[in-house]
Amino acid sequence: MPQSTAQSTARSPWTPTSWQQRPRAQTVQYDDPAALKRAVDRLAGLPPLVTSWEIESLKANLADAQAGKRLIIHGGDCAETLDECSPATITATLKILLQMSLVLIHGSQKPVVRIGRLAGQYAKPRSKPTETGDIDGQACELPSYFGDLVNKADFTPGARRPDPELLLAGYHHAAMTLNFIRSLATGGFADLHHAEQWDLRFLTNAQLSGDLRERYQRMSQEVRSAIRFAELIGENSMHEVSRVDFFASHEGLNLEYESAQTRKVPRRDGYYCLTTHLPWIGERTRALDGAHVEFFRGIANPVGVKIGPSIDPDEAVALLRTLNHKREPGKIVLISRMGATKVDALPPILRAVEKSGEPAVWLCDPMHGNGHVTDDGRKTRSFDAIVAELRSTMAAHAQAGTVLGGVHVEVTGHDVTEVIGGASGVTQERLSENYATACDPRLNYAQALELAFILSGALSRTAGDLPA
Ligand code: PEP
Ligand code: CO
Repeated sequence: MPQSTAQSTARSPWTPTSWQQRPRAQTVQYDDPAALKRAVDRLAGLPPLVTSWEIESLKANLADAQAGKRLIIHGGDCAETLDECSPATITATLKILLQMSLVLIHGSQKPVVRIGRLAGQYAKPRSKPTETGDIDGQACELPSYFGDLVNKADFTPGARRPDPELLLAGYHHAAMTLNFIRSLATGGFADLHHAEQWDLRFLTNAQLSGDLRERYQRMSQEVRSAIRFAELIGENSMHEVSRVDFFASHEGLNLEYESAQTRKVPRRDGYYCLTTHLPWIGERTRALDGAHVEFFRGIANPVGVKIGPSIDPDEAVALLRTLNHKREPGKIVLISRMGATKVDALPPILRAVEKSGEPAVWLCDPMHGNGHVTDDGRKTRSFDAIVAELRSTMAAHAQAGTVLGGVHVEVTGHDVTEVIGGASGVTQERLSENYATACDPRLNYAQALELAFILSGALSRTAGDLPA
């Protein structure tokens, strides 16, 4: 069944709005069609946020990762908010991604592609379209919060009303974020010769005792040796050390926003979605005959797809055929997010994809299958489960002879208390100390580095077995 659906989907004519004829999961109910049309028309006339040559360069990098020649670190907030579009938040995210990437370069001896969940990660899928809460002592049902591109988090009827003007506000904040990142990435910020700017002080100053302090100190030494290592590489290539490439990525959930910025560009074939380099399709919107797959099958960008344990192996193959009928390398990034106890769903999928010969870049998202809610109602994840999923996913790839291209994580450069465990010692009792996420719990700075070290250690042990 999935294959024939894939074939019929691939045969019908595609346009930037053909998705409108398909069933759409996670639809936003805008109540003013004229206002929506005005916002979409305005968006369609605004300059692109990214360019086709940046997109093609990412696709080439992803093709390298598919061949085992590069690693990918794909990470950032679960949900960016417009209020947090600030220099502190943007630099903190870039720093942690840079530092994780250095640790991975050190362990894997491969170049690393950095892709941020940023500059547009403003639209969120929700398990329920409405939420019941309390307003002035009265129980009240309002639309859920779908991210700042759609509505606002406060529990009031005004805030929760989907507002088409937020599509434009999201575009403007994404533009400001990208503008700042572009200057940082080409300026002194990313220069490894000035690694003091990368602020590693917390590694030695952390108020920790015993074992944990020792682990941090070891980590600190390893970071410094990673930097020295990268500086050595830089002797031959000063340019590479003083500037780094960052790419942007977000879930392409709001098709009004994505399709408004999708167009042909001069001297290239096909349509480019110019809101971001790498849009991805979420686990809840990846139906083969649905609107999201229809939209993303027609664009030239690389496209990510999240896949959870319920996917049928044939369905994974059908998604690849539908989304990449030209079978371009580096075009589709399959992001597995099984959950630590369900990674046994992965090997049959790896085998089916391998047998089909369809090209795919594999990433492991060890976050989204490992959520749980504490007794007092907080969403959290356990660091141990995250590590366990990453390790079993690496083992599954090693067994299947497929290449794990990298990781996809929800992470912040701030010292939040959202994920339980890891050397930073966040316990369930401490979650409320600095629980700041607008959606899912993120790894804090220390947990993110610790995860990078674990992955890096595992990669350096297996480096001899990976394709050159
Ligand atoms: C996400 O990445 O924030 C998300 C909602 O993921 P998934 O689609 O895998 O549940
Ligand atoms: Co999330």
